[in-house]
Amino acid sequence: MSFTRPIISLVAISTKHSNIKGGSWKIAKDFFNNNSIDYPLAGFQGVIMSILSLIQKRRSIRSFEPTSLQDDDIKTLLEAARWAPSAGNKQPVEIVIVKSESQKRKLVGAALGQEFIAMAPTVLVVCANLERSSSRYGTRGSSLYAIQDAAAATQNILLTATDLGLGSIWVGAFDEEKVTEVLKLPSGIRPLSIVPIGMSTKESIAPPRRAIDEFTHNDYFGKS
Ligand SMILES: Cc1cc2nc3c(=O)[nH]c(=O)nc-3n(C[C@H](O)[C@H](O)[C@H](O)COP(=O)(O)O)c2cc1C
Repeated sequence: MSFTRPIISLVAISTKHSNIKGGSWKIAKDFFNNNSIDYPLAGFQGVIMSILSLIQKRRSIRSFEPTSLQDDDIKTLLEAARWAPSAGNKQPVEIVIVKSESQKRKLVGAALGQEFIAMAPTVLVVCANLERSSSRYGTRGSSLYAIQDAAAATQNILLTATDLGLGSIWVGAFDEEKVTEVLKLPSGIRPLSIVPIGMSTKESIAPPRRAIDEFTHNDYFGKS
């Protein structure tokens, strides 16, 4: 196919210049646009950078440029959340998109004064609809699966933001009651993560990780 070769070149570009600004998706989009090549099938869009490289490239970003996010990018982030796995496919995730300065300021207040939340042009608040999960799974659904489902959606958002060349962070330190009040969340909708997203102002260094040997156990816990 005519776009096979450009994709191979882009794999090479992404691998060689892993610190290039913009994610693999953006590089691909620009490449196809600049060369007047029809944008390829959606299935190709996310496979240009290896999944592991993308996972390793993602960083928690705490400083953002004021530039607004494109609507297309927000849609892509929501699409990523939509395709997260969920227990029994109950899809209990609800997302509040916060863009107004006044609402962002209130979220800073609810999140122990973490000022960078207000710096980001868009903040996604990922919530769990507890009743959707408890309707099938009872207490395990509302106390565990709904939370896990919201976590999976949050991680999908963070990784997709990275692929789009955007900075993001998972903020979990906040007063749930205050966030509930600010966002007017009805009862049974629990806020799980606040995710500010925007262009990062600086590169950040990866904090160290535990060695694989340190957290893996063979056959039973404690056996190396
Ligand atoms: C559940 C959860 C809650 C977190 N809450 C906060 C937070 O409130 N504020 C913050 O600055 N970072 C928060 N983080 C980001 C972590 O500090 C960060 O993921 C960790 O230091 C590793 O850095 P990295 O994300 O760049 O790999 C949170 C991360 C997770 C997964």
